[in-house]
Amino acid sequence: MPKLPTPKLPVPPLPPQLQPPPPPPGTQRGRPHTPVEQAAEAGKSVVDWVDERTSLSGAARWLMFRKVPKGTNWFYTLGSATMFAFLSQAVTGVFLAMYYRPDPASGAYESIRNITTNVFLGQFVRSMHKWGATVMVVLVFLHMARTFVFGAYKYPRELNWVIGVVLLILTMVMSFTGYLLPFDERSYWATIVGVNINGTGPIIGPYLSDFLRGGPEFNASTLSRFYAIHMLIVPGAIAAMIGAHLYLVTKLGTTAPPWLKAEPEPELIKETA
Ligand code: HEM
Repeated sequence: MPKLPTPKLPVPPLPPQLQPPPPPPGTQRGRPHTPVEQAAEAGKSVVDWVDERTSLSGAARWLMFRKVPKGTNWFYTLGSATMFAFLSQAVTGVFLAMYYRPDPASGAYESIRNITTNVFLGQFVRSMHKWGATVMVVLVFLHMARTFVFGAYKYPRELNWVIGVVLLILTMVMSFTGYLLPFDERSYWATIVGVNINGTGPIIGPYLSDFLRGGPEFNASTLSRFYAIHMLIVPGAIAAMIGAHLYLVTKLGTTAPPWLKAEPEPELIKETA
């Protein structure tokens, strides 16, 4: 008996909730078709691949998508501006370190002259570093003034204020140690004055100036000591302190401007009534 063909039944209509979503605009049946769309898809796949193995997107969301109080204004950007100045100092400093020689027997002075006159974009990068130092000091003071005026040093942010004070001291140490590095007459004598001022401090003063000089006299090892402090110890400490500072900013949130009145919480009113 010949086999009869099985009748093809029409597909039952799906309720709207179960229907596949329409393709995103600019795509054919949901698939990317232009090179730009394909590149965007590839980027997403890489991010997904990394996220599946590290779960970093949770941390990134915690860091970046936060509630900010009403009335947040341009003064709140001073901390990020200080951080940007620090990053710019780090990048320009790396390029300067490629040509600088911490050798007091004319090597340091000559290497700075070489950077300024011969190296491609040397004068530009050196000036960025030199002016950037001033910009960072100005910004750190403005940022500190903002947090003080807005009362952001009060509970629960006292520890962040203390970390800020450490950052302020480290920024000043950067300026002080960097000033000696060109090793010209001005930087040499100004640093001797600065080290002597440190020596007048109570109890630890004399030890501090001995530590900075690398002994009782200002000699060849003083310059290498200043260079090591300037390019290794203090930037590392600043980076670590900024990490702690930003962790606390993210955890505690930023302070609302002092002129804003706290809005009554409807839930609390219901509970206390
Ligand atoms: C290298 C130096 C510094 C960097 C890169 C830095 C960075 C930042 C950033 C990005 C913020 C969050 C945004 C803002 O409020 O501006 C912040 C907040 C804060 N900073 Fe700094 N900061 C530095 C130095 C200081 C200093 C010197 C102090 C005070 C002594 C300080 C105290 C605070 C406080 C209390 C907050 C919390 C502000 C709030 O809750 O509204 N920081 N900092």
